[in-house]
Amino acid sequence: MLAEEISVHKNTRSFNLRVFGCQMNVYDGELIRASFLQRGWLDSDDPTNADVVLFHTCSVREQAEERVHGLLGELRRRKKANHKVVIAVVGCMADREGRALFDREPHVDIVCGSRHFPELADMVERVIGGEERICELGESPNKVDEPERNLAGFPGGYQAHVAVMRGCDMNCTYCIVPSVRGRVESRPAAEIIEEIARLVEHGVTEVHLLGQTIDSYGRDLPRATRPDLALLLDELENIEPLKRIRLVTLHPSYVDQRLADAMARSSKFMRLLPVPMQSGSDRVLKEMKRGYNTDLYRQRIAILRAAMPDLELVSDWIVGFPGETDADFEESVVAMEEHNFLQSYVFQYSPRPGTVAFDMADDVPKEVKATRNHRLLDLQRRIARQRSPRLVGTTCSIMLESRSERNAGQWIGRTRTGHYALLPDQPGLAAGREVAVQLLEHNGRELIAELLGELVPVARFDHEEFPV
Ligand code: SAH
Ligand code: SF4
Ligand code: F3S
Repeated sequence: MLAEEISVHKNTRSFNLRVFGCQMNVYDGELIRASFLQRGWLDSDDPTNADVVLFHTCSVREQAEERVHGLLGELRRRKKANHKVVIAVVGCMADREGRALFDREPHVDIVCGSRHFPELADMVERVIGGEERICELGESPNKVDEPERNLAGFPGGYQAHVAVMRGCDMNCTYCIVPSVRGRVESRPAAEIIEEIARLVEHGVTEVHLLGQTIDSYGRDLPRATRPDLALLLDELENIEPLKRIRLVTLHPSYVDQRLADAMARSSKFMRLLPVPMQSGSDRVLKEMKRGYNTDLYRQRIAILRAAMPDLELVSDWIVGFPGETDADFEESVVAMEEHNFLQSYVFQYSPRPGTVAFDMADDVPKEVKATRNHRLLDLQRRIARQRSPRLVGTTCSIMLESRSERNAGQWIGRTRTGHYALLPDQPGLAAGREVAVQLLEHNGRELIAELLGELVPVARFDHEEFPV
């Protein structure tokens, strides 16, 4: 109670924001944070004291939603003790559950869908002004992204997220994303480039470009001036201090030669590419309505690997999709081995109300889902362990990430293809700096690197942490 009173007396208003879900939500969280900071709110990391508690949520699996319901439950008593605390559920879960959220969580004041968060700070002011239960869902007349992003919410550091498109036009039968995020809206190329140029001025050397099917970027824009991902990669080549570009996530259907060539000629494109396969069974892929079969997937990967022989791939997998038999699952095992992914994320199928698959029987028992999950993860670990040692003896560049926590006196960095390497500490090393190295050996976990040549001092790396 004392903390509540102090906050009122000092007339300082604070917000606490917790972000769940994918990298797009992390990016959106930075925009939300910026809009509150701009209005003079204080950023608080303590939800038990902040005047406004915001949850930026995810609906992709039931577990993600239940976690937020659990946290909301913890706030019930606080709201009872102080009805002035404002609680908002923002993002995908708001869109999926809608007004029904007020029934299950009567102490929530705002339900704000993923295309309405730019108005969130206004909604909070309205609640403070006395309005009750504000709910904004679905389409918005306004674009989510401002032409010029307010960078006040950018946390600093050398890595930054940048949304290049929003929504998804695919209709995978298991997936809630299209219904909560809406149809694809690509951002104009000039806005994206400008945003990255400004981030680079703040010390960023690695950007993660985000979109649910990022290789379809631009297809919704007017034909005459339509940009695409290849053009974006070419344009970003001109931003010299930018060293690395990561793309998250590709859909196999949109991979073509033009894009593969642009990736291959880019000096910044990070050759660690998520192209989720989801299943190795043609029957299951068809039921999922993924829009490709294993053969088409193979062809698209062949285009990419022919252009970039050192390319590493990352995949997502769903185990226990309705009707997935042991034989179907074994085909996923075979596919994982065939494509030699460097990393995989494995998810147990979770029925999502409103999706096509929700009406199919969720007939794979929990224990079977769990066993399949472990088997794929074990296999992935085995495949990954074999891939890094192949680089021993080569020279390459690594992007320094941080001082290694497990290895005293060492920095940890990543090759352009995503492999981890250790480099002995020496003056001039800094997070976000790219350095040329020789890879000497592999310790079973990371590559061991040695600096090639002298480290030339660079003004922007004089400080260990970027002064953002
Ligand atoms: N747009 C990306 C992925 C977005 S969702 C793509 O198409 O690949 C991230 C991952 O969550 C998906 O790749 C999928 O593996 C998983 N996922 C989506 N819906 C799911 C569900 N209902 N149950 C379990 N996993 C799911
Ligand atoms: Fe979901 Fe499919 Fe769109 Fe990915 S491509 S977000 S899995 S509907
Ligand atoms: Fe989750 Fe929404 Fe992202 S459902 S995965 S937060 S687009």
